[in-house]
Amino acid sequence: MDNYLVFGNPIAQSKSPLIHQMFAEQTQQAITYTKSQPEEAEFKASVATFINNGGKGANVTAPFKEQAIQLCEHLTERANMAGAVNTLSFRDGKVYGDNTDGIGLVNDLKSHQVQLTNKSILLMGAGGAARGVILPLLAENPARIVIVNRTVEKAKLLATRFNDEKLSAIGYSETAETTFDVIINATSASLSANLPDLSPKCITEKTVCYDMVYGAELSLFLTWCAEHKARQVIDGLGMLVGQAAESFYIWRKVRPEQTQVLAKLRSQLQ
Ligand code: ATR
Repeated sequence: MDNYLVFGNPIAQSKSPLIHQMFAEQTQQAITYTKSQPEEAEFKASVATFINNGGKGANVTAPFKEQAIQLCEHLTERANMAGAVNTLSFRDGKVYGDNTDGIGLVNDLKSHQVQLTNKSILLMGAGGAARGVILPLLAENPARIVIVNRTVEKAKLLATRFNDEKLSAIGYSETAETTFDVIINATSASLSANLPDLSPKCITEKTVCYDMVYGAELSLFLTWCAEHKARQVIDGLGMLVGQAAESFYIWRKVRPEQTQVLAKLRSQLQ
């Protein structure tokens, strides 16, 4: 039996154990997957203990994703550019780090038949959540990705980091000037029931709006997008399952089927 877990603080709310349990049953993999909530200063020691006890891999969530980078002897390019690790693998006495958040988002958009190639994407937010998805989005060859952030300087800095001419940065006041095919909310505004200062003019009846958060109710942002006649609004539950599926694949080399897992989680949302 191989052991995995997720590190986070708080972690009680995490759906990862349930998701990985369902993946394991479905693919007949003999694993355990539990939760760990170390204090911030104890994260590295907790990972070391888990490795010493034979742990094979771990997911990492807030607030440890950035710290986790320092533990890794090998980092994928997507994790390096994300500046964050959400998947650790322990093999041959080494620690490998990856970030599957971006591919989780891209795959979820694709599963909703949302085209990204040659499309114009607005990415809201310039924190860790936004940074984590930029490289996988660029890999889909969009026409452009515009980062919009309350603190414009932070968006500009983030855009520069990727050194890609398709990437640019603006402030919210400029969102009245262009329309977008896809708008992705990677701000933490939904968590505090706030609405970013986006202009409704950047939404058309062709625009797909995505919020990385999820819940039983549509987020304030997605409700607002629907009111402004967006073509489609999608919450982040599929991204959650998608990033987990990619972690599972990294660890087990088996791709789990996601539709039923997603439906089960959806039915349990409250
Ligand atoms: P995370 O790791 O979840 O991305 P973060 O690094 O704290 O969290 O970043 C939060 C992001 O949400 C930031 O881009 C923040 O904007 P600022 O950089 O200007 O602070 C954005 N954000 C939070 N609340 C917001 C709000 N009410 N309106 C618009 N953007 C908001």
